[in-house]
Amino acid sequence: MQEVFALIENNKREFTKLELFDYMQDRSIAASKRLSFAPCMTHFIMSVGDLNKYDFRESQPLNKLQHIINEHAKEDEEHWRWFVTDIEKLNCNPIQNFSKTLKSIWSEETKITRQISYLVAGYTLTAEPIIKIAAIEALEAVGNVFFCASSQVASELQKTTRQDYLYFGESHLKLETGHTVGTPEAEGFLAEIELTDSQRQQAFEIIEKIFQIFTEWTYELLAYAQKNGVESIKDDGFKADLIICA
Ligand SMILES: [Fe+2]
Repeated sequence: MQEVFALIENNKREFTKLELFDYMQDRSIAASKRLSFAPCMTHFIMSVGDLNKYDFRESQPLNKLQHIINEHAKEDEEHWRWFVTDIEKLNCNPIQNFSKTLKSIWSEETKITRQISYLVAGYTLTAEPIIKIAAIEALEAVGNVFFCASSQVASELQKTTRQDYLYFGESHLKLETGHTVGTPEAEGFLAEIELTDSQRQQAFEIIEKIFQIFTEWTYELLAYAQKNGVESIKDDGFKADLIICA
C-alpha cells in the first residue's frame, strides 16, 4: 500500500493549492461568506452517512481489513448531524419550503456535489476491502485539507457569534485523523500490504477519480459562495497560512 499512500500524498499536496482554500483564508472577505457554500454541500455530506452504512460497512466482516473499515464507518456515519446544526448556526436557512429545498439540492449549481457519492459508490460497492480502504484514505485526505481550512474560518467566526461549529470547526478536524484508522500500528499494518497488479490499478484509478471530482467540487463551492454568500459578519485581518495537518 506504500505506493497508494504516496499517490494520495501527491494528490493531497496539489489539492491544497486550489483557489477555494485561498478564498477560505482571505480575511478581507467576511468569515460567514467564506463558509457560505455550506448549502451547496448538502447532497454529499448527507450521503456520507449512507455510504458508510450501506456501502463501506459489512454486517459480517470476514477479515481484519473489513474490521478496520467497519470501525471507520461507525465513527463517520453520524457526522452529518453536525452539518445540519452548523447550517442553522451559519444562517444558511433561507429556503422557505420543501419543494424549493429539493430544487436547490438537485439544481444545476450543485450538480458536482451530487455526483461525488454516485462515483464513490460506483467504485466501491462491490469492491474488495483493500480497494475500499484506498478510496476511504483518499476521501480522508480531501477531508483533512478541507477541515484544516474550515476550522480556521469557524474559529474566526466563533469569536463574533459565540457559536460552536461542530462540523466545520476544530472538534471535527481533531476527530478526523486524515486516515482510515488513527493508530500508527494500523497504518503500519496497511502500509505493509502488497497489492496485486490488478488491485494497484483499481486503487490508483479510484484515487485519481476521487481527487478529480473533488477538485471540480471546489470550483462549484467557490462559485456558489461568490454568487450566494451574504456578508453578514464583517471582520478585518490578513491571509493566514493554510496548515496541512498530518
Ligand atoms: Fe466526519
